Amino acid sequence: MRVAGRGPAAILWPAVPAIYIETYGCQMNLADTELILGHVGAHGYAMVPTPDRADVVLLNTCAIRERAEERVVGRLTDLARLKRERPELVLGVCGCMAQHHRSHLTARVPALDVVVGPDAYRRLPALLDAARRRSAARGTPRATLDDPLIDVRLDPDETYADLPAARRDGAVRAWVTIMRGCDKFCTFCVVPFVRGRERSLPADAVLAEVRAAAARGAREVVFLGQTVNAYRDDACDFATLLARVSEIPGIARLRFTSPHPSDMSDALVRAMGTIPAVAPQLHLPVQSGSDAVLGRMARGYTVAQYRDLVDRLRATVPELALSTDVIVGFPEESPADFDATCRLLEEIGYDQAFLFKYSRRTPTRAARWPDSVPEDEKSRRLTHLIALQEGISAARNQRWVGRTVEVLVEGPARRSPGHVAGKTPQFTTVVLPGDVPAGMLVPVDVTAATAHTLLGEAPLTGRYRETPAAAD
Ligand code: 5AD
Ligand code: SF4
Repeated sequence: MRVAGRGPAAILWPAVPAIYIETYGCQMNLADTELILGHVGAHGYAMVPTPDRADVVLLNTCAIRERAEERVVGRLTDLARLKRERPELVLGVCGCMAQHHRSHLTARVPALDVVVGPDAYRRLPALLDAARRRSAARGTPRATLDDPLIDVRLDPDETYADLPAARRDGAVRAWVTIMRGCDKFCTFCVVPFVRGRERSLPADAVLAEVRAAAARGAREVVFLGQTVNAYRDDACDFATLLARVSEIPGIARLRFTSPHPSDMSDALVRAMGTIPAVAPQLHLPVQSGSDAVLGRMARGYTVAQYRDLVDRLRATVPELALSTDVIVGFPEESPADFDATCRLLEEIGYDQAFLFKYSRRTPTRAARWPDSVPEDEKSRRLTHLIALQEGISAARNQRWVGRTVEVLVEGPARRSPGHVAGKTPQFTTVVLPGDVPAGMLVPVDVTAATAHTLLGEAPLTGRYRETPAAAD
């Protein structure tokens, strides 16, 4: 270690190249960041918590909507200033936006040194080493010297099953990627283009990862994949995988996100009802309540089929919590189509919903159609739907008041000193007073509810008062 800075603010600084990563977008990107850090860590890079003195600054990005991309471009413009002060700094973009824009990204952000797609992380240490050598040599007159290093090859077999991810010890929840890519090609979605085709990790690799997570102290596992329930490793389908993983000691709860409604097999619905560790919670993206819109989205189901699936799930899984994704303002979405979506949200009564304005994405099929719903009308529909869903979520959460729920405690509550926060089996956040150690499963009496949080009291809290040090 060398010491950076002077005086009391001096921090210990690694003697090896220092890398700083910021993550944008979904949980899969967060899991990919752990993978990247594990891999570059094995090649001598050390993670640092701020960009100011890092040798490499990497943004792991999202391309799902234009707004997500604009945020990253804004951040890159800020970071380019750092590079003017320290020309040896290597600035890179990885993830979906790298794959989406490839070399065009460097036209918008000329300071970029590396652009690396989601299937090229194996080569990241070599790319970063090369970029650092180039940056160190800046000032020599070769015109090509500042060409960015771009690797956006998609690889239909890449699962990174053998790469060691940098995982946090003591984390209550482990996010485990079990498949990558998507074959569905919904007409609005850029994911199949930037993440490539579906491929699953070997079941043995998944089991080993879950065992390792349990050994590090995880009590809950969340399986991740763009269409997670399309998982298949030879004879082991997703329902079989859940059954096998549920036998691993130490894991109290199993969840997964995001499933596609068309891949919710009868076996999977049964598995959700019969495997005790599988939590009674499902994020089941519906996207629209209108058959005409669903057809143009190429979602592969009708509203009636979706409704029937929800009925079967609710009949099989007691107290099932459902959440969803909805897009408003899809091309040609009429006021009647939008009304149908509002009615479906009311009818199903989702516990939570993630609501988005349609964002035109090349090279999707829908991007070839006129973006026909005006921006202010999209905003109006979104505002209406948010208000509608807030009321539904608040009413759904009220049903817990006066009942006792089992909470898996995650640690101190962010906004309430003297309180801890955790989740119910339904993935609802509960805040309670006291210092219950992270990782404990405690019965909590629910005393109040808002649209997003429950408040409660743990009758057993006093028992943990003497062991605050265990709450890591
Ligand atoms: N515009 C708006 N929302 C989108 N999503 C995916 N693509 C788009 C798009 N082009 C939403 C979908 C998906 C969620 C992850 O993001 O609702 O389920
Ligand atoms: Fe995108 Fe559809 Fe694939 Fe989900 S299923 S990632 S919305 S293409």
